[in-house]
Amino acid sequence: MADRYAVFGNPVAHSKSPLIHSAFAEQTGQTLEYTAVEAPQDDFAGAWLRFVQEGGRGANVTVPFKGDAYALSATLSHRARRAQAVNTLIVGGNGRTYGDNTDGVGLARDLAYHGVALKGRRVLIVGAGGAVRGVLAPLLEEEPDELVIANRTAEKAVALAEAFSDAGRVTGGGLEAISGAFDLVINGSSASLAGDLPPLPDTLFAPGATAYDMMYGAEPTVFLRWAKAQGATPTDGLGMLVEQAAESFFLWRSVRPDTAAVRARLRDALGKAE
Ligand code: ATR
Repeated sequence: MADRYAVFGNPVAHSKSPLIHSAFAEQTGQTLEYTAVEAPQDDFAGAWLRFVQEGGRGANVTVPFKGDAYALSATLSHRARRAQAVNTLIVGGNGRTYGDNTDGVGLARDLAYHGVALKGRRVLIVGAGGAVRGVLAPLLEEEPDELVIANRTAEKAVALAEAFSDAGRVTGGGLEAISGAFDLVINGSSASLAGDLPPLPDTLFAPGATAYDMMYGAEPTVFLRWAKAQGATPTDGLGMLVEQAAESFFLWRSVRPDTAAVRARLRDALGKAE
């Protein structure tokens, strides 16, 4: 029987992970089955246990279960501990559950893919929720000159910056306190989901700046449309999704898929060219 993997979420029907991992498996000649599991909101642990009992070897975990996956992991990677969230579960040889987080490395690799350097640059990240916390450590490893976290609720950004102050020059505050121009602005808030644009100053972008939205869709987000009008180069989060998946696939199978081919397939599936 093929090794079994799945993405756990709720809702999960819209997830692109089955498409991505099936493409990786085909490309690398790995025999595996990858499905989507809609776990009950209040019983992620039960759903995971059943999956393992039925031969499950690993999983991706998405909204709203990354915290539950973190809580049930017997062993955690350093980056999962920093993120306080798990997006990748692995069943070890001893049957114990190992939790990792590939979201941050996915973002860092996608930025590299697009030729966006962070080293020595001024970087702004908008939002201070779980999605932002999950990517901070890998971003700081790229040694930006300064990382500013700006959030609608200022205190959350201040607290997050303090939690990561050992890892680099990082400050936090409210959206109204943003000052100066940035080489890279990452929208890690969930405002795009609702079609909202956080109130941002129109002096945000340095010449040649990149605007990155961790969300993606068939159409550019309102943040990316606004950023493009301000002269920044817009990039959506589709590549991050593919890169975090590739890192999960590597953790499970010890084989690195070629992400470029799968980016193109996914973009096609969304109905537009990258
Ligand atoms: P996620 O897991 O996606 O990070 P979250 O933890 O609920 O979800 O965090 C959502 C983030 O998006 C928060 O930083 C939130 O700001 P607040 O902390 O002030 O709530 C931000 N956000 C959501 N909607 C927003 C909007 N319309 N404008 C600006 N920021 C918004």
